[in-house]
Amino acid sequence: MKVIRLMLSDWRNFERVEYLPQPGVNVVWGRNAQGKTNLLEAVYIAGRGVSFRQGRDRDIVKNGQPEGRLSLDFVSGGRAQNIAVTFFADGRRKEMLLNGLAVRKASELSGVFCTVLFSPENLSLVRDGPEERRKFLDAAISQLRPKYQAALADYARVLSQRNFLLKKGGGPTMPVWDERLAALGSYIVMMRGSYAAKLKKPAGTHHSDMSGGETLTVDYKWFDEDEAALYDIKKLKELFVRRLNEASARELEAGVSLVGPHRDDLELMIDGAPARIFGSQGQQRSAVLALKLAECEIAEEATGEPPVLLLDDVMSELDAARRAYVRKNIGERQVVITTVSRTRGAVKMEGGRILPCIST
Ligand SMILES: Nc1ncnc2c1ncn2[C@@H]1O[C@H](COP(=O)(O)OP(=O)(O)OP(=O)(O)O)[C@@H](O)[C@H]1O
Ligand SMILES: [Mg+2]
Repeated sequence: MKVIRLMLSDWRNFERVEYLPQPGVNVVWGRNAQGKTNLLEAVYIAGRGVSFRQGRDRDIVKNGQPEGRLSLDFVSGGRAQNIAVTFFADGRRKEMLLNGLAVRKASELSGVFCTVLFSPENLSLVRDGPEERRKFLDAAISQLRPKYQAALADYARVLSQRNFLLKKGGGPTMPVWDERLAALGSYIVMMRGSYAAKLKKPAGTHHSDMSGGETLTVDYKWFDEDEAALYDIKKLKELFVRRLNEASARELEAGVSLVGPHRDDLELMIDGAPARIFGSQGQQRSAVLALKLAECEIAEEATGEPPVLLLDDVMSELDAARRAYVRKNIGERQVVITTVSRTRGAVKMEGGRILPCIST
């Protein structure tokens, strides 16, 4: 996949901007708060319909303007395609078009145009609690599997309804909610389990290569340990319902659902010790980088094409050896790298405008 042309109007701090990246490595440099992350965010949104940043859709519209527009020309599946997205300041639902046809759900964009983002915030993937790791899995799977993003949204709705009921002491409709939670939840667990299984090998290899032989292990932790059930949706759902029954008294007491993928984790260990607690900064960085490179490879395998890699201000945080490792592993992918350092061959981002290349 390759971006040919990105047009933004009234988008974040851009009034109107055209970005024409090269097929290979592209560097965008600029001082703080000039629009570098906003540019990468736009490419990310084109592929998924949602941002990696907190906030509402309307925040993306340039302050004071009624709507913000994005148009991305790209090559995927051997043909030129276009994604257009419009966000509205009045809170109306965003509009998305794929090759001129309306996209009703963000999930319909999944797999059409894939990106992998690596930003300094990704360190939270190792450092913070399980929620960050669940988000990583969910974002990575969503862009490959159209149904998954929709299932996540449905699961969140059912979970909140079920929690509401539990707080009121349950009731006769409880079994209906249990059934729905188990049906959606077991699908989510199965998808995460199989994604985690795919991550194991490439993430371990990248980490070992970068660190001179350290072992990174990646293990999906869910409500059971029966590996075989992870690949059998019927069995998984039965197990889910059984766990719900076992937990029912505790759930009523707590007033929240205690079983399900909303409590899962992706366990990361370096040389047998939890990376979150024992990993040094450098080790944690290597682990995140290894996971991100693995994410690229999985996306490539699933879609048959290399995803576009977005590196937001991460190169300066890596030591020379890891920087070289990233460069070596970029391969045939198109990459957009942002940096605050003046760089030869880079375009300059200044106050939401893109200025031509610096040749010296
Ligand atoms: N809806 C919006 N309307 C106008 N400006 C916005 C909007 N959303 C964000 N901005 C502004 O865009 C500016 C650039 O943000 P961005 O995160 O892209 O900076 P950056 O170049 O990545 O900086 P840094 O090097 O600090 O990461 C910020 O000053 C921010 O306030
Ligand atoms: Mg930034």
